[in-house]
Order: sequence, then structure tokens, then C-alpha cells
Amino acid sequence: MKFLLPVLLPILMALANGGQTPPPIPAEYIAYAYHGQLFDRDFKPIELTVDVIDAVQNSMIEEIYKASTPLEKKQMEEWLALINGAKEVEGEYGVVARHAYLDSLLWTAPGHLREAYEWRMPLLRRGLWDFHLDSVHPQLWEFLRRYWPNFVLRPFSTGQQYINACEAEGVPIPPDWPHEDWVLRGTLTRPFISTGLTAQVYTYSPPAETPGACYALPRRDASGSIQLLGIICQSATTGRACFWDNIDEATGRTITGVNPSLVIANLQNGFNLTENCTVCHRGDNAFNIHPGTPLDAGLNTVSPVWYVPIGQATWNNPGPIVMPDVPAGQRSCVACHQLPEVNSSFCRLLRSAVENTMPPGGPYTSWGSPGSSAYATHISFLRSRCP
Ligand code: HEC
Ligand code: HEC
Repeated sequence: MKFLLPVLLPILMALANGGQTPPPIPAEYIAYAYHGQLFDRDFKPIELTVDVIDAVQNSMIEEIYKASTPLEKKQMEEWLALINGAKEVEGEYGVVARHAYLDSLLWTAPGHLREAYEWRMPLLRRGLWDFHLDSVHPQLWEFLRRYWPNFVLRPFSTGQQYINACEAEGVPIPPDWPHEDWVLRGTLTRPFISTGLTAQVYTYSPPAETPGACYALPRRDASGSIQLLGIICQSATTGRACFWDNIDEATGRTITGVNPSLVIANLQNGFNLTENCTVCHRGDNAFNIHPGTPLDAGLNTVSPVWYVPIGQATWNNPGPIVMPDVPAGQRSCVACHQLPEVNSSFCRLLRSAVENTMPPGGPYTSWGSPGSSAYATHISFLRSRCP
């Protein structure tokens, strides 16, 4: 019966659509992506030629335009005039410039359009990468950098390149998921973040040639389905660390399920994740280990240097933060470890630490009013540095 499926599926889908498949707007040409192939809603393969990318982009811009306020429309017209008029972006280079523009436009686009288009952007990017990257004119790069300084034309498939970069720095590479080398250590009873989900701690101890540690932290919803699964590996010899998340690199979609299969080389990673893991994963080592919990698994997590993340230019580990001396009778928060420079995310973490885990074994105190705590001087100082 299996062979009937390819024939039946489009028919069933057409039936569900009231008998016919309405031709989608070009913005929605790409309906599916599997194993590097793109398909339209009738499962016809799509080839990403300049003309196809052009049509998809223009259609996305048009739909966003329609949903914009008069002021936004005026701004869009000005931007498009700039792009279409610039000599740096003549011919095919226009699609690269428009990609950069769409990238920034989507940040403020209405939610339903963001949801519809954002996952298609990396797929389009692959087309750009295929025929433009090696030949992009220096003048075009200058143009892109002038107007969209944060824009990066990220390569489509960096999975293997990221692994190579990590390996070159001595970072252990984790096994795919699931795998018998991932050892379950237990469940976190009081996670600091994503508290609505149940966090399980898995570790991987690499072979002797690449000393270090890997953690995977599947966070499951009430039905047992994994919603989030971050992976971090750190080298005990170089102090470099690598990051992966359960997001398909090809489609930008989160891979969920009770027992999903994750291939490390196909996951978004430090080179192309949108989320910056280092806003929270910073300090002496890459990990956020709560002593006395399953995270405290006796692995080789010590870094010989202030750890260095491998990732995009914005991924960093600033610090250590300079703490004031403490007066007689007061204790130091940096007696056992250093602390990194703070930001709003890390401040939330510090607050949870002071109220639940630090110093190990307690007594814990209130972040807002540490009162007579032996750590009050340092807690107040840290709080004063927090937004
Ligand atoms: C908002 C802060 C925050 C961000 C951003 C963040 N994490 Fe975490 N992460 C934590 C905290 C806190 C823990 C410890 C478990 C807990 O309390 O939830 C943790 C734990 C982990 C662990 C288990 C090992 C350890 O360090 O304790 C892994 C693996 C992990 N995160 C991966 C990632 C990856 C990959 C990213 C980026 C895609 C990321 N995290 C982004 C806060 C964060
Ligand atoms: C007696 C030693 C000691 C003192 C004092 C101490 N810590 Fe820690 N802290 C630890 C250890 C051990 C860890 C686990 C580090 C690891 O294994 O990577 C840790 C981890 C942390 C972490 C990351 C994980 C978590 O549970 O949040 C933060 C943040 C932190 N400490 C903040 C503080 C602050 C703030 C103070 C002062 C109130 C403090 N620490 C005082 C020993 C100490």
C-alpha cells in the first residue's frame, strides 16, 4: 500500500482544500523542505534560481507593505528606492541586498507574517549562497555593511564547518541524539529557566584524546515531548566551548517530539543560531552548574582559562567582573569562582542563584534585600550593576 502514498497525498490535500489547490502567492512557493530539497505545496521540487528568489522576495515585501501603517509604507518606499537605485546592487546583486533588507524588515513585521516568512529566510539564503558568495562584489559588501551593519550572509550549511572549527580547538564533539553514550544523570527539581518544562540532565564523557565534558539538557512538556534541547561541549585543555540547539539548520524549525532524532551536523550551532547562548553561559566555564543537583556530575568541567565560546562575533564571555573588597565580617562571592560581566539575562540568573543555590548549601537570601547576609556587600554590588 505504501507506494500509493505519493499519488494519494496531493489528492487528499486538494480535497481538504475544497477540491482544488489555490495557487499560492510567490512568498509561499516554498511549502516544504526535506533533506536539502525544497518543494511547493504540490510536492513539486523548487529550484532556487535568481528569478524564483526575486519573485519570492518581492511578494514577501508586498505582503508586508500591505499590512503596514502609512508611515511604515513611506519608509519602505524610501528603502526600496535606495536599494533599487544603488549602482552597487545592480543585476543579480539586488537579491542579496533585498535579502538583507527583508531580514531587518521582518523584525518589526506583524506576527502572522513573521511566522509565515521567517522560516523561509534561511532556505532562500541557501540559494543566495549557492550562486553569490564567492562572487559578491566588495562594493556590495560595503553597501550592505553601511545600511545593515548587523547583517551577515550566513552560509547555508555550517554544521560540518562548525564541527571542524570545534575539533580544531580540541573541543569534544558530542554523539548524535539519542545515543547510548549520553548518560542520564537525573531530573532538575528546580530549574532556573523554562520552569514550565521538565529538564533532564544528560552528559557525555569524551575519550582521553579530547578531555572535557558535554551536556545535553532536554526540556520536556507535560506530555513528555522534548521542546528544547541544548547541547554544550567544552575542552578541558583549551577552554574553548561549542553550542548546538534542536533547530534544523536547513529549515530553521525546532525539532520536537518524545524521541526526536538529532544529527549534530544538521543542527543550528554557534555559527548560525539566532539566540545567543553566551548571554547566560559565561564565566569560569561554559556551564551553569547548580552544585548538589544532577548537573553536578563530577565531569571534567574545569577550564584552564577564562572559557572562550566558538561562535558568531557577538558571542563572547566578558569578564571577570571586578568585585569590591569586602569589609570585616562579610564574605566574598568570588572566593570559590570568578563571575562574568553582567547583562539583564545573567542578572536573572544571579538572582536565582542568590535565592536558591549560592553559596552552596546556603543560607540563601533575598536578592532585593540581602539584609544581614554574610554576602550582603557583594550581592548589593552585583545588584547595582544590574539593569
Ligand atoms: C536565559 C539564560 C540562558 C540562555 C540564553 C541559555 N541558557 Fe542554557 N542554561 C541556563 C541555565 C540557568 C541552566 C542550568 C539549568 C537551569 O537552571 O535551568 C542552563 C543549562 C544548560 C545546559 C546543561 C548544562 C549546564 O550548563 O548546566 C545546556 C546543555 C544548555 N543550557 C544549553 C544552552 C544552549 C545551547 C543555549 C543557546 C541556544 C542556551 N543554553 C541558552 C540558562 C540559559
Ligand atoms: C564556597 C564556594 C562558593 C561561594 C562562596 C559562592 N559560590 Fe557560586 N558556585 C560555587 C560552585 C562550586 C559552583 C558550581 C560551579 C561549577 O561547577 O562550574 C557555583 C556556581 C555559581 C553560579 C552558576 C550556577 C548556579 O547555581 O547558579 C553562579 C551564578 C554563582 N555560583 C554565583 C555566586 C554568587 C552570587 C555568590 C555569592 C552570593 C557565590 N556564587 C558564592 C561555589 C561557591
